[in-house]
Amino acid sequence: MSLFENHVVVVTGAGRGIGAAAAKLFAQHGASVVVNDLDAEPAESVVREIEDAGGTAHAIAGSVTEDGFPEALLAGAVERFGKLNVLVNNAGFLWDGMLHTMTDEQWLRIMEIHTFAPFRMIRAATPYLREPGKQERAAGEPFAENRVIINISSTSGLHGNVGQINYATAKMGIVGLTKTVAKEWGRFGVRCNAVAFGFIDTRMTRPKEDGETVEVGGQEIVQGIPEAARGRAFTNNPLGRPGTDEEAAGGILMMASPLAGYVTGHTLEVTGGAGI
Ligand SMILES: NC(=O)c1ccc[n+]([C@@H]2O[C@H](COP(=O)([O-])OP(=O)(O)OC[C@H]3O[C@@H](n4cnc5c(N)ncnc54)[C@H](O)[C@@H]3O)[C@@H](O)[C@H]2O)c1
Repeated sequence: MSLFENHVVVVTGAGRGIGAAAAKLFAQHGASVVVNDLDAEPAESVVREIEDAGGTAHAIAGSVTEDGFPEALLAGAVERFGKLNVLVNNAGFLWDGMLHTMTDEQWLRIMEIHTFAPFRMIRAATPYLREPGKQERAAGEPFAENRVIINISSTSGLHGNVGQINYATAKMGIVGLTKTVAKEWGRFGVRCNAVAFGFIDTRMTRPKEDGETVEVGGQEIVQGIPEAARGRAFTNNPLGRPGTDEEAAGGILMMASPLAGYVTGHTLEVTGGAGI
């Protein structure tokens, strides 16, 4: 039997990078996957790739920061596939700057995408994750499903990082959020873990000079890391190389899998050993 057979998985920000790799890996391991992204075309293209490989997927485009969208996304997933097992709060972007020049908007937008949106997604998952578990518990039955939330953190959150006061704060915040969900919903059979990545080769960590952007509130925010800082960043770990998006996805599946059935509130570091 496949590890995620009979599982319905929602991955936010799954049009590219780590989210796309996770969506494909979940599908390879038997899950029906809902691929969300801000950008519709990349999300559709991930769905086509999954279907071409014989898997099952459905795209729901939209922004996880938009009022009402978390509820609509999860209702759409349940309408399509009948239930929810795994929610991966992966969507994100950077808006870096040094503390002394950072604007309120830069701070708030990063808090919004990396902490407020995951909180709203989890709250919107209440009827599909907490409630069935609560009913099973009240009936004295064993939990019928593997129900899990995975949040994404970062070495910037665990250790701090120059130029990322907003992102580092948000990515540590998500660890507190993860532990609290684990404590509130554990009795209802819902696990909640975080996965903290080091330097993974995606658009987020490619040279800033490439000029790739994300549109946030009508502004184009350049993604990436300045070329001068990149080499230092990705050799600063015992494996001495960046991670791939598939390796990052592997960490997400490890923590979501029924094999981690007694693991909750944990932050798994998928960093090539950075910071040990
Ligand atoms: N790449 C790394 O080295 C690294 C390290 C630590 C943590 N992370 C985290 O991993 C996650 C994935 O990042 P990635 O490296 O794959 O980046 P990426 O830029 O390749 O992919 C992020 C995806 O999220 C989507 N997105 C952004 N805002 C969204 C919104 N409001 N609603 C829906 N989708 C949205 C983007 O369109 C994009 O497709 C992020 O949370 C990021 O902070 C990445």
